[in-house]
Amino acid sequence: MNGVRSARLVGVSRRAEPAVGTLLLLGGRSEIGLEVATRLAPGRTVVLAARRSDELETEQLRVRQAGADAVHVVEFDANAMDTHADLLRDVAERHGPIGVVVLAFGILGDQARAENDAQHALDVITTDFLAQVSVLTHASKLLRAQGSGDLVVFSSVAGVRVRRANYVYGSAKAGLDGFASGLSDSLHGSGVHLLLARPGFVIGSMTEGMTPAPLSSTPDQVADVVVAALRKRAASVWIPGTLRPVFFAMRLLPQWLWRRMPR
Ligand SMILES: NC(=O)c1ccc[n+]([C@@H]2O[C@H](COP(=O)([O-])OP(=O)(O)OC[C@H]3O[C@@H](n4cnc5c(N)ncnc54)[C@H](OP(=O)(O)O)[C@@H]3O)[C@@H](O)[C@H]2O)c1
Repeated sequence: MNGVRSARLVGVSRRAEPAVGTLLLLGGRSEIGLEVATRLAPGRTVVLAARRSDELETEQLRVRQAGADAVHVVEFDANAMDTHADLLRDVAERHGPIGVVVLAFGILGDQARAENDAQHALDVITTDFLAQVSVLTHASKLLRAQGSGDLVVFSSVAGVRVRRANYVYGSAKAGLDGFASGLSDSLHGSGVHLLLARPGFVIGSMTEGMTPAPLSSTPDQVADVVVAALRKRAASVWIPGTLRPVFFAMRLLPQWLWRRMPR
């Protein structure tokens, strides 16, 4: 796959560089997130926000070698939602203004376990939907006040039409996709831009041990597409782009067939 050319950009407004300022990567050791961060690093301050932030030497080095002016780390547990406002304010005060916020944290969860263990289902929904809503609300407020900035949100084709085989993760992504789409529209004219990325199966740590689905991509291909879409200020992007018509057609499949679809 040629990542950039095969991506499907939606709602392109005009060509521009991603907003200047600090890059905040929430999910500081996410494979996709780090690929995006290294592409945007040259000439910027980068803040890696993650759990066990004292164990981010390799990630810091990678981003510094990619050309970042400075790399900082900050402790971040997405599920501790009462910490989000302070974290964002603190990053802005110490390293601001913030140019780009990448929300790259997430868990796939164990679908079979979540079907019988309500707490596990709630864990997936908490990290993949509720925590994202919390961060996005605080971050968009902060960027609105600045009058500029880019937000990068990772939805998934899993949320476009939720499948029986991964309905817990899929429903979290469906909720996130809807929330981010509405937020994106509410930001129109504010100077703040939200990019909603919808990758298909990405071969990497999150999907380790799983057989790649058709039209899979890699974290570096996803990052190429995301950065190109940021430059075009696209509202959303499918990765690869062929997934957009494929999922349009999949929406039309009857339920008896849809429920047999693999994850
Ligand atoms: N991989 C795919 O197939 C795929 C497809 C479509 C969309 N996406 C989405 O793309 C985004 C990035 O995924 P990826 O492939 O880069 O996955 P990844 O390499 O597994 O990274 C996810 C990161 O999220 C972090 N995280 C999980 N729970 C957290 C929490 N409570 N607080 C803070 N950090 C937390 C993990 O941190 P720790 O190191 O602390 O565990 C991990 O580094 C996710 O939203 C994912 O759902 C992925």
